[in-house]
Amino acid sequence: MTTRNTPIETTTRPTDKDVILEVRDASVTFDMERGESRVMDSVSFDIYRDEILGVVGESGSGKSMFASALLDAVVRPGQLTGDITYYPRDGEAVDLLNLSERELKRLRWEEISMVFQGAMSSFNPTMKIRKHFEETLDAHGQDRETGLVHARELLTDLYLEPERVLNSYPHELSGGMQQRALIALSLVLKPNVLVMDEPTAALDLLMQRSILTLLENLQEKYNLTVVFITHDLPLVAGLADRLAVMYAFEFVEIGPSEEIIRNAAHPYTRALLKAVPNLDAPIDEMRPIEGSAPDPVNVPAGCSYHPRCPLATEKCIQVDPGYYDVTADHQAACHHWEQSIEAISYSVSSSDNRNTEVKSE
Ligand SMILES: Nc1ncnc2c1ncn2[C@@H]1O[C@H](COP(=O)(O)OP(=O)(O)OP(=O)(O)O)[C@@H](O)[C@H]1O
Ligand code: SF4
Ligand SMILES: [Mg+2]
Repeated sequence: MTTRNTPIETTTRPTDKDVILEVRDASVTFDMERGESRVMDSVSFDIYRDEILGVVGESGSGKSMFASALLDAVVRPGQLTGDITYYPRDGEAVDLLNLSERELKRLRWEEISMVFQGAMSSFNPTMKIRKHFEETLDAHGQDRETGLVHARELLTDLYLEPERVLNSYPHELSGGMQQRALIALSLVLKPNVLVMDEPTAALDLLMQRSILTLLENLQEKYNLTVVFITHDLPLVAGLADRLAVMYAFEFVEIGPSEEIIRNAAHPYTRALLKAVPNLDAPIDEMRPIEGSAPDPVNVPAGCSYHPRCPLATEKCIQVDPGYYDVTADHQAACHHWEQSIEAISYSVSSSDNRNTEVKSE
């Protein structure tokens, strides 16, 4: 275990943690005319079995790249390097970046499933919802009848009327219903991990929170590990067990949600929290953080946050900070995290950020 003031090279893992996905030194690069664009930068990270992990950060910080990397689904010509290992509950570890096309196809959906950003439009408008379930089951060689029994259960779990939804075309459902149908579809092959990239961004606040409540129920019922990606820190704060804050294509702070909300150590996280007037407030009431997010072709040297950081010193400009232990399970990539806690104030005015109930539709 590291001492409090010694930066560490990789994310530490408390020994009592059961890891389901282990990411090591993972990077994504694109060759651009104006140079190499590094949109995920040597990320090392553990995702724990059965946790809900919230990944937050500004637009363009690399959240979707991280999500795609977890399924080896980075779009070409992006190059994903490093190691990602999946540990099933039973059976051998899977080296995710060295699978054949066939193995990868099976892993996606059956082990790790993903709801992509803007996915509501991923329903084929000419096909009833039932057909989407059937095609998914067929593609994975699963029995339709058994699969549809599970689909009906999932739809019911998501407070939808199964037959009505299965017999509808996508446009016949509201946005909230479509999104829930999509979550059911992503779970129909009983994956262990569900990665959701901004799954509720297109919905109104009440529906977003309702879906989060349902997600929490699903997570418990099916022992799911959930990675919930959003730029909306207040939204995910009440749901996630842990939060991972992304800035400039890497994680700058990781820890239990409550700990991050109450005692954020990285100046960027503190600025994010300062920008939220009230954890229950809508996102559009947030005050933006001054300065702009880095260009992936030209990430600042040393600590990439230094041009925007009120605490930046010469050391920050010269030396890229590793992770410092704030507590055993809370890390921040900042040379001056102790000073950050003292000097950058923010207030959390709501302690009750639990999500709301949803009514049956
Ligand atoms: N196909 C691509 N080619 C080159 N660069 C890309 C490509 N797709 C994304 N990027 C760049 O990768 C970086 C990270 O993008 P990413 O989509 O992961 O951000 P994000 O955090 O998900 O943002 P948002 O909140 O807007 O969804 C951005 O700088 C983006 O411009
Ligand atoms: S390392 Fe320096 S520049 Fe980076 S966040 Fe900490 S104080 Fe700011
Ligand atoms: Mg994104």
